[in-house]
Amino acid sequence: METRNVLPADVRRELAAALQPILAEAIDLERQAKQAHWNVKGPGFYGRHKVFDELHELAEDWIDLVAERIAQLGHLTEGTLQRAAELTRLPEFPLGLTSERDNLEQLAKALSAFTAHTREVLKKSEELGDPITADILTEVTRGAEKYLWFVEAHLG
Ligand SMILES: [Fe+2]
Repeated sequence: METRNVLPADVRRELAAALQPILAEAIDLERQAKQAHWNVKGPGFYGRHKVFDELHELAEDWIDLVAERIAQLGHLTEGTLQRAAELTRLPEFPLGLTSERDNLEQLAKALSAFTAHTREVLKKSEELGDPITADILTEVTRGAEKYLWFVEAHLG
């Protein structure tokens, strides 16, 4: 799409393409967090229920940051649930997980995979000379790694 953004068109195209799966995975993570929030059971219910809802809220921020960066780069965002399901590479959240440990382990695995992918695109942004996309991915990765720490601390 037409834009007055000063980055070269090929750089914008490459970055937007790399950001689509990150958007998909942020949507996946946001849904996984709510799935855990609704279904977790156990003596530590309230703390888990709350921490999973905080992750859902953070992931909503990441979705918007990444989706709007794709738009700023002059490309269409692919932000539907159907497209997210096609593009995500996160481990699938199995329906029926209820134990605290299983929910925490699932979210730890999903967060870890997510940060591996955000770090890859962060590196690509730096290599392509776009510190703004790199900054957005730094913010997203920083938040995701902090939450990975929270989730792992709950695991003990
Ligand atoms: Fe709720």
